[in-house]
Amino acid sequence: MSHYEITSRHKGSLLRLYTPDDDEVRQCAERLAGFYNDPYNSTMMDHTTDHTAEDIAKIYSSHAPDTLRFFIAADGVFLGDADLRRINSQARTAEYAVMIGERGTQGKGWGTQVSIMLTYFAFSALQLQTIYLTIIPANVAGRRCYEKVGYAVDNSAGAANYREHPTDLVMSVDRAAFLLRHRQLLPPILIRLA
Ligand SMILES: CC(C)(COP(=O)(O)OP(=O)(O)OC[C@H]1O[C@@H](n2cnc3c(N)ncnc32)[C@H](O)[C@@H]1OP(=O)(O)O)[C@@H](O)C(=O)NCCC(=O)NCCS
Repeated sequence: MSHYEITSRHKGSLLRLYTPDDDEVRQCAERLAGFYNDPYNSTMMDHTTDHTAEDIAKIYSSHAPDTLRFFIAADGVFLGDADLRRINSQARTAEYAVMIGERGTQGKGWGTQVSIMLTYFAFSALQLQTIYLTIIPANVAGRRCYEKVGYAVDNSAGAANYREHPTDLVMSVDRAAFLLRHRQLLPPILIRLA
């Protein structure tokens, strides 16, 4: 599996997204499970069961070939995780998901910046063309965050494949529209294949 590190500065902090090794997963698994199990986060992510630290370790060690999982840290403080899944290099598509875990850390722009960084990574390093995500209608903060990145509700037949429940909203963003929207912000984002 390739190990990537994506960095930028946000609010004076070094924001770092990285594909964690087994030790890094072990160190953060308990905390990540706590974030997943927070009642608000769990509802917004449509999780139906709680996660243990062992569940987290299992998810991260599965190394599905079409998935890249990232930890998020600001100045070394663990904030949450994000991933690109269903990466299809022929169709040049993937699905994106993110969580800023601590309730007190949400709503401060971290989710938007992380989403810009990972969407940029998908379009540049992975050379993808369209990124999709699903969201429940009640997730107002998530929807606003994604709209700031450039994602818009997509009612196309292709987008419908990403829906897990009939009520899910599917949002997507295309490479050209994203790069045009963020062209002035992108150069400070550094991508490193570790
Ligand atoms: C969704 C999530 C990733 C967004 O990250 P974040 O750092 O909290 O979001 P940001 O601060 O970058 O942006 C959120 C926006 O929503 C707005 N917002 C927050 N709560 C809101 C509400 N109840 N109504 C309207 N807008 C709201 C914020 O003001 C901000 O917009 P602004 O910058 O224009 O003011 C994060 O909140 C999270 O992880 N939530 C729990 C898990 C989750 O929902 N994951 C996504 C599943 S699709």
